[in-house]
Amino acid sequence: MARLALVTGGTRGIGEAISLALKREGFTVVANYVGSEERAQAFRERTGIPAYRWNVADHQACLENVRMIEERHGPVDVLVNNAGITRDATLLKMTFEMWRDVIEVNLGGCFNMAKAVFPGMRERKWGRIVNIGSINGQAGQYGQVNYAAAKSGIHGFTKALAQEGARYGITVNAVAPGYIDTDMVAAVPADVLEKIVARIPVGRLGRAEEVARGVVFLCSEDAGFITGSTLSINGGQHMY
Ligand code: CAA
Repeated sequence: MARLALVTGGTRGIGEAISLALKREGFTVVANYVGSEERAQAFRERTGIPAYRWNVADHQACLENVRMIEERHGPVDVLVNNAGITRDATLLKMTFEMWRDVIEVNLGGCFNMAKAVFPGMRERKWGRIVNIGSINGQAGQYGQVNYAAAKSGIHGFTKALAQEGARYGITVNAVAPGYIDTDMVAAVPADVLEKIVARIPVGRLGRAEEVARGVVFLCSEDAGFITGSTLSINGGQHMY
């Protein structure tokens, strides 16, 4: 039977590309989203992938929705923690809410979702967890103390959980995308983005599908000896 993969923030941007790539690879895919109902409905119709709405920052909602998904679709074998937001501002202008929201969604979401799926993976002695970090968690980024801290936290979370999962056939890895051609990056002011792209050795933004290929590999049977690692997909912008 096909393995079930759950992708958070899986109906847009990098998450959508991951959902589609996993489906193409033969996984049964379920996506989570929190934003626009209309866009999610278009995604369901376009891809045939079921999508469920809840906020990954809400611990109880994660537990309840994973339980519901497991009842409807079967046990979750693969979790891709992709849901993430930005609230960019320099520290002087960043409010407490901008800090809190980014930490709770980007980092808290990984904890909440892992709590929901890890016990089942452990019992079945097989699991793949891929957390989407960021070049900005590795290198820092002006105007992103919240995002850089959350993404950097994801890298530590990955290495710690990898140690806990290893004996049970559960691998936990991170993918660290650089600047990818998505709505999130399009929101960066054009003059700032131009300077960033000028520093990417490959000379362009990445494509969501290029990140998805890396995620699919880490979710495969073949990747069973890779755990606690970070795969950087950033056009050479930061060599870590
Ligand atoms: N290093 C040093 N100084 C910098 C700088 C940098 N990287 N960027 C800006 N500055 C300076 C500016 O030159 C300016 O100096 P002056 O006042 O002397 O002219 C000062 O800092 C203020 O800059 P801004 O006018 O840009 O400040 P702002 O408050 O209007 O905006 C900002 C600040 C919101 C952070 C804006 O610069 C911005 O959006 N930057 C992009 C942040 C970014 O890369 N976000 C990534 C989003 S995508 C993502 O996160 C996905 C992923 O994982 C990669």
